[in-house]
Amino acid sequence: MSVEEKVGQMLQLDARDDLDDIVLRRHAGSILHTSPERIIEANRLSAETRLRIPLLVGEDCIHGHSFWPGATIYPTQLGMAASWDADLMERVARATAEEVAATGVHWTFSPVLCITRDLRWGRVNETFGEDPFLIGELASAMVRGYQGQGLDDPTAILATAKHFAGYSETQGGRDASEADISRRKLRSWFLPPFERVAREGCRTFMLGYQSTDGVPITVNDWLLNDVLRGEWGYSGTMLTDWDNVGRMVWEQKLHTDYATAAAAAVTAGNDMVMATPKFYEGALDAVARGLLAEDAFDAAAARILTLKFDLGLFEDPRLPVDGLDAVVGSAEHAELNLEVARRSIVLLENDGILPLAAADPVRVAVVGPLADDAQTQLGDWAGGSGQAGWLDGQPREMITTVLDGFRQIDGWSIRHARGADILTLEDDPQGTLFPDGQPRPQIVVPCAPDHELIGEAIAAAEASDVVVAVVGDRIELVGEGRSTATLELIGAQIALLDAMIATGKPVIVVLLASKPLVLPPSVANAAAVIWAANPGMLGGQAIAEIVAGRVEPTGRLPISFARHVGQQPTYYNQIRGQHGDRYADLTMAPRWVFGEGLSYTTVAYSDLSLEETTLGAGDTIVAEVTVSNTGERPTRETVQVYVRDCVTSASWADKELKGYRQVDLAPRASTRVRIELPVAECTIVDSKGDRHVEPGEFELLVGPSSSEEKLLVAGFDVR
Ligand code: IFM
Repeated sequence: MSVEEKVGQMLQLDARDDLDDIVLRRHAGSILHTSPERIIEANRLSAETRLRIPLLVGEDCIHGHSFWPGATIYPTQLGMAASWDADLMERVARATAEEVAATGVHWTFSPVLCITRDLRWGRVNETFGEDPFLIGELASAMVRGYQGQGLDDPTAILATAKHFAGYSETQGGRDASEADISRRKLRSWFLPPFERVAREGCRTFMLGYQSTDGVPITVNDWLLNDVLRGEWGYSGTMLTDWDNVGRMVWEQKLHTDYATAAAAAVTAGNDMVMATPKFYEGALDAVARGLLAEDAFDAAAARILTLKFDLGLFEDPRLPVDGLDAVVGSAEHAELNLEVARRSIVLLENDGILPLAAADPVRVAVVGPLADDAQTQLGDWAGGSGQAGWLDGQPREMITTVLDGFRQIDGWSIRHARGADILTLEDDPQGTLFPDGQPRPQIVVPCAPDHELIGEAIAAAEASDVVVAVVGDRIELVGEGRSTATLELIGAQIALLDAMIATGKPVIVVLLASKPLVLPPSVANAAAVIWAANPGMLGGQAIAEIVAGRVEPTGRLPISFARHVGQQPTYYNQIRGQHGDRYADLTMAPRWVFGEGLSYTTVAYSDLSLEETTLGAGDTIVAEVTVSNTGERPTRETVQVYVRDCVTSASWADKELKGYRQVDLAPRASTRVRIELPVAECTIVDSKGDRHVEPGEFELLVGPSSSEEKLLVAGFDVR
């Protein structure tokens, strides 16, 4: 291969640009953000090149196939995380891989392993929440699902662990801000999920946008080479995020030209450079100037070619298949989608009104700006919305909004009123241009209450027996570059909720919110609160079924809800504080904490026992607990297992999730749940950054959530 051809293999370019330039002039090894027609055309062009190397096609299919109208869109990753069900995640990833592969895409940029810290971050919805253990479990299941039994299976696609690492440790929640994060903090919480999937064979890693200690991750030698390649022995492919190399020139001003930026990226070990066309000229210039040797691209090109060989692209470029409509958006996948939507919904409050049984009133006012908002229901990265906004959108008939869902319940009479608007967009007063000439995104302006709209909602409520108020956030407040300064419901939504509560009718608040939001005081008087995240195409059906008691609510929070935006961060597993680590004007307790979630029955925990209470570092903790359904409805209980290291050599989290089991319980049934946990999992990272078990006193905490008062505790010693 010529140097030009090797450099070209390192390029992943935006297929919406000129394909002749991408394929013929720059010899790109990969394209992203494309369509079946563009994939076919790009491959036709690559067949005209000297080496006829097939193209790798990548796409952000992070909760379903993001760029194909008619593809199955599942709840967002955060929504699915509320199921706490790794098998379900694996099935969703497998089904997604089938759809993605059928359309000629070989590589998804999923799953997201970032830990949510500040809820103002715009990409909270893309994460599995705030706990590294849960993230590791669910991410590893998704990787298995995408990559299947092996890449030679035509339905297997490459998974991507992203965004390596520390990207979510934002400043003020602002996306892609400098990540102020120590190596110890990385090793303690941010790296473990990545290490897990690296060791389990995730074929690609994406490097985030952030810099740490002044060094962009794209050129962070310690993380990329010492940790990822060195300590973890990772031999997979490293891909930059969007124009990370160019940004070092035009945005971060770390380089005066593309030659030095390209040289830095290649030297740091990047294999594929996303969306920086000028990397091509920069890299060749770097060779001409003696900044890089001619063989500097060999390792990267070899890794990219290995992916192509392993996928079998040289024999079959895996173009969009004939009859793909039988797979994409299939009835089988819709069934799975409904199952995951049902499992992703979290019941947060219930004064007893739910489920609305057959004998209950059936005149329902479904109000709120999101009650019939198909786009918001799908969330980000779903054709036609958010980051995938270049599409026309998903067919409306595939989507069951909340309003549709309630209308499907036989015998219920439904009144609908929008009641409030949320936002409009205006030009950002900070100016209209980014340094590279791109238009600056518009800024969100909340709508004021409209008395006519609220009046319509009041009329609907007054003519009904119960109100379902569907509120939350819209796509303009979600995603990359869309962090929010506030967490409150914006626009006229608070006024609407206040007015609904003031009617005296029971109000069921349904939060279609991409991430935990702060709810207004009037919600304390709501009859029930449900969080549905962005529940996917069939989310409206799942919500209505739960309200109607046709499906049991079993979701558990993978993330804590704050009481106030100033309470950030609110994650449960914070380092033990000391004197003064508190607010004078607000409790530190989140509004709803990690692991919470109600069922339509009650579950009691008792008789936590440990087989041995003195253990060595190589032993396994064996415990049992009795879990009893004390009510009259069936449920699936998520039995959560936390560990507290009572005294540690360096400050550490007060408790950490170390495992969980999901058990199905019939009404009035009890079961003894066995827990096995290797002591080797009870580690801390000491002040030198080394992870190990420190002998001493520990506690095993078992119960239905991370809330201290709900956990049974058993002590043990490690010698
Ligand atoms: O995969 C994404 C990444 O998560 C954020 N920046 C753009 C990439 C490609 O769309």
